[in-house]
Amino acid sequence: PASTPPADAAQASPSPLETPRREVVFSGMQPSGGFHIGNYLGAVRDWVALQDQHRCFYCVVDLHALTQPYEPAAMRARVLDMAVELLACGIDPQKSTLFVQSQVPEHAELSWILSTVAPYGELSRMTQFKEKGERAEYVNCGLFTYPVLMAADILLYKATRVPVGEDQIQHLELTREIVRRWNGRYGEPALFAEPLPLHRSPLRIMGLDGKQKMSKSLGNYVAISDEPDAIRKKIGSAFTDELRLRKKDPGHPESCYVCGLEQYFMPSDKVAELQDGCRTARIGCVDSKRALAEAMITTLQPIAERKRQLLAQPGLVEDILQAGADEARKIAKQTMAEVRERLGLLPLR
Ligand code: TRP
Repeated sequence: PASTPPADAAQASPSPLETPRREVVFSGMQPSGGFHIGNYLGAVRDWVALQDQHRCFYCVVDLHALTQPYEPAAMRARVLDMAVELLACGIDPQKSTLFVQSQVPEHAELSWILSTVAPYGELSRMTQFKEKGERAEYVNCGLFTYPVLMAADILLYKATRVPVGEDQIQHLELTREIVRRWNGRYGEPALFAEPLPLHRSPLRIMGLDGKQKMSKSLGNYVAISDEPDAIRKKIGSAFTDELRLRKKDPGHPESCYVCGLEQYFMPSDKVAELQDGCRTARIGCVDSKRALAEAMITTLQPIAERKRQLLAQPGLVEDILQAGADEARKIAKQTMAEVRERLGLLPLR
């Protein structure tokens, strides 16, 4: 939680939040309740790494989650679970601003304003909208304006870099289009800069079936909070090399799901040793799986431990989120004051 340094410490070293950073980073994640290792390796790990270099805002986007059918009684727990796991994975409230979208009401306000410059035609061409729209029983307007709220998230903090997965690149392009239109109408000097995606290694962690992307709904995942025995069991039944039928057959680590995961949980010399053993049939798939499961348990154990510590202190996570929202809101209010002025609206006093 944000602690106020004593007055005489002021000139010693500035708090990380006041140090000028190269970029402002914003990213959001829906409160789906609990990460799997695909989320962790594909996104959260990068969020953690970015904190040391940039001014980062990380947001649990509960307003976005309202566009899907959900159980209101379960929402708070989903939001808090996500925050606990982000903190346990290493998001540090001393370095980044971690907050919940609905606790900064300016997100919804700016979203409305941006919707008055967002092009209807392009919104209706968004792949995610078309896909979700086809599956939904009835299509709510929030599903349609979803990317406009994303643009508001990013622009409230004038973020310049946005770490996103492949599936969100199109939405980020739309944010850039919204910026161009907004600046064209209300700019001079431009209030917003076009944010760029922050490219990370295109990680697509496959599920334990080795066939589809790891996902909660497909049930083909290892959760970061799975117990050691659950991890052993899940990895034990994971997909391996289809061409290796008997232990004495040489393996093909480059096309084996279990071998593919080793690099994320073990040092490279250990990976080389295991894969050599597999290629020369010195070790079997069962041995590879055991080694992977133990390495995963070792990697995830400190996260589980931090999670236990956070949960042992009632109210702590809520306090961290409130402090994050307070911090975010200061900036959001400042941006909204500028936006109101540009639009010719009366100021808030
Ligand atoms: N829509 C994003 C997703 O589903 C989450 C998100 C919301 C987001 N607002 C954002 C991501 C702003 C980056 C920037 O993954």
